[in-house]
Amino acid sequence: MSKGVKAMKDNKDKQTTLFKNLESVPFTYGTIIFNKEKLICFLERINDQNNPFLLKNKIVALKEIINSPKSDREGLLNIDPNGDTISLRRDVLISELNQILEARTLERAKYYLNRLENGVQEVKTSKVNDINLLRWKEYDEIITDSLWILDKRDSSGAHLAWYWGNFIPQIPHQMMLRYTKKGDWVLDAFVGSGTTLIECKRLGRNGIGVELNPEVGQKAKELVKKEYNKHGVTTEIITGDSRTTDIKTILDKHEIEQVQLLIMHPPYHDIIKFSKDEKDLSTAKSTDEFLKMFGEVVDNATPFLEKGRYFALVIGDKYSKGEWIPLGFYSMQEVLKRGYLLKSIIVKNFEETRGKRNKGELWRYRALVGGFYIFKHEYVMLFKKK
Ligand SMILES: C[S@@+](CC[C@H](N)C(=O)[O-])C[C@H]1O[C@@H](n2cnc3c(N)ncnc32)[C@H](O)[C@@H]1O
Repeated sequence: MSKGVKAMKDNKDKQTTLFKNLESVPFTYGTIIFNKEKLICFLERINDQNNPFLLKNKIVALKEIINSPKSDREGLLNIDPNGDTISLRRDVLISELNQILEARTLERAKYYLNRLENGVQEVKTSKVNDINLLRWKEYDEIITDSLWILDKRDSSGAHLAWYWGNFIPQIPHQMMLRYTKKGDWVLDAFVGSGTTLIECKRLGRNGIGVELNPEVGQKAKELVKKEYNKHGVTTEIITGDSRTTDIKTILDKHEIEQVQLLIMHPPYHDIIKFSKDEKDLSTAKSTDEFLKMFGEVVDNATPFLEKGRYFALVIGDKYSKGEWIPLGFYSMQEVLKRGYLLKSIIVKNFEETRGKRNKGELWRYRALVGGFYIFKHEYVMLFKKK
């Protein structure tokens, strides 16, 4: 058995769900399903009112219907089997209605009302994701800050946390929601235990992963297979060296030319030795050699990323012989050298590895003696292809 497989650890004790399926955000907070046509008519009638008092009265009536469906004499909640429906998140809708009620002028009230009407009638998304910008308030679980403190991994579904050195599912999850649309293709050049592909299946994205270690790749395949494929997407794990794997042939097989998101979570040089294979980035003899190898992976994979799309690099720094090695920034430089646009550097807290857990005091002592700080973070760096 290879070292990489020996490194698989059973962390099932940490199985706590932090993030629910973000895709279903509008449904996790309690939603109200309206008859779309009737709701639009109702909102239009309110909008015709030029008497602020009567306008607000109608808004109060709508709030009453939401809070007590029995009072729905307008039939807003009557679902017609052949008609169109719209589900709105209850708390967001109530807050929008309150905003209208609190408006000091008729003009302001109508401004909020129009915004609500647009959100009901239209869908406005960007080129890179499915977030409906007209209802952006409903996506409050999508992180937009650059400091991520996530202390629990999502180990629901097929995520088992068995692989030492994997990333928490929330990372690919967040990346896919922000930077892909349903049906897009994601390439992970260091797929390890398959975390990215499991998330692909959950979110309806197609995924290709490359992994050097055949035993790890095999185990990942089994794990990914266990995740229910409710969106009918394609996922594939290729065993190979990401520096040289013929990505074009893989894409040809799926009749695509490019992918819409590239994820890389390489070894943080030799912090964890994944194998003894000299093709493994964790066996690089020096930082320079690691960066050279990493650059080769970038050169091999990035030509297949669609223009205007994103490349997420997940990496941490290392400490060696009394010196902090800024591996993250060195690696970032490798990508920037190749003409990519840096969009964000996210600093994410670092989960304690099993090795370091229970050794907190020893590390603190070492830090005080050695004049350094204990690693508690890693980076998610985001680049855009120009
Ligand atoms: C940090 S882990 C990735 C973990 C993954 N994100 C997950 O959640 O399981 C890095 C992986 O890269 C693999 N690896 C190292 N060198 C490689 C190479 N040249 N080509 C492909 N995979 C490689 C290692 O075997 C290891 O599984």
